[in-house]
Amino acid sequence: MNAIEITGLCKQFSGKRMTKVDALKGLDLTITAGEVFGFLGPNGAGKSTTIKLVMGLLRPTSGRAVIMGLDASQAESRRNVGYLPENPAFYDYLSAEEYISFVGSQFKMEKSLLAQRSEEVLKRLDLWEARKRPMRGYSKGMVQRIGLAQTLVHDPDVYILDEPMSGLDPIGRALVKDIILDLKRRGKCVFFSTHITDDVEKVCDRVGVIVKGSLVALDRVENIMRSGVEGYLVHLQLPEADSKTFAGITAVRRSGSVSEFYLPCGAFNAFMGEVNLSGVEVALVETKRRDLEDFFLSLVKNDLSG
Ligand SMILES: Nc1ncnc2c1ncn2[C@@H]1O[C@H](COP(=O)(O)OP(=O)(O)O)[C@@H](O)[C@H]1O
Ligand SMILES: [Mg+2]
Repeated sequence: MNAIEITGLCKQFSGKRMTKVDALKGLDLTITAGEVFGFLGPNGAGKSTTIKLVMGLLRPTSGRAVIMGLDASQAESRRNVGYLPENPAFYDYLSAEEYISFVGSQFKMEKSLLAQRSEEVLKRLDLWEARKRPMRGYSKGMVQRIGLAQTLVHDPDVYILDEPMSGLDPIGRALVKDIILDLKRRGKCVFFSTHITDDVEKVCDRVGVIVKGSLVALDRVENIMRSGVEGYLVHLQLPEADSKTFAGITAVRRSGSVSEFYLPCGAFNAFMGEVNLSGVEVALVETKRRDLEDFFLSLVKNDLSG
């Protein structure tokens, strides 16, 4: 079954002085169960608007969003969902433990299961020590972590997370990635937004890039990476002082006994064939690829200039 189905989703806001803002312009997107999907886009692209529409917090101008077969306008569609809003804010006179209990009770969790799950998630998000303190004394990173903890407590099958890594230090970011990978291993669906390419590269199955309210790219992460191969860097162990040439390619640099070659796409097999015949030792082979960041920037720039 599809976890999330978005069809022709549009959202127009009324701006200042009777102007209209088209925040989302006909989005079509299907996320399957068990998939980790990264929704990537610059600030103001329409990521949070999409997420709020899927969560039924905004009404679409047209189109629809469906979670596990139920329309986003039905409260029942959110029963099996963990949701992290952007800039989460909580009843800050409550402690983390009290807040998690409150969330669990909203999902009608049985008492002993709730106590056990609460302990698990507070420990997992490194909030166990602070669990009895009112949240008003929490740092930004702690608030973000309690936001994530409350998505996990009822163990839903679908996670909709708006910028889950924002406001976290490198340790916190690594923890969140780890949690997402854990969810993936357990067959859960995670749909999360971010404006940072690093966040999606290691954890996502697929990535969608949204710019100015339209989806401009949608593919598996490995396809995006593969399509970006620009050539190969090869280091050969060449004792003689003179630089050598293999398959017409001459070393670009030499340091000590190592010569560095740069091969364009398509030249790899002929080059390595000759190297192999000559019996020269290969010290390093590295694929030179455009990374996700370059890909993302090229899409955003294209769109902004056209
Ligand atoms: N309540 C609102 N009223 C008017 N404009 C809005 C509202 N919410 C969002 N927008 C506009 O919609 C666009 C998309 O915003 P948003 O979905 O928050 O982007 P993102 O989450 O990708 O940064 C922006 O131009 C933003 O200014
Ligand atoms: Mg946002």
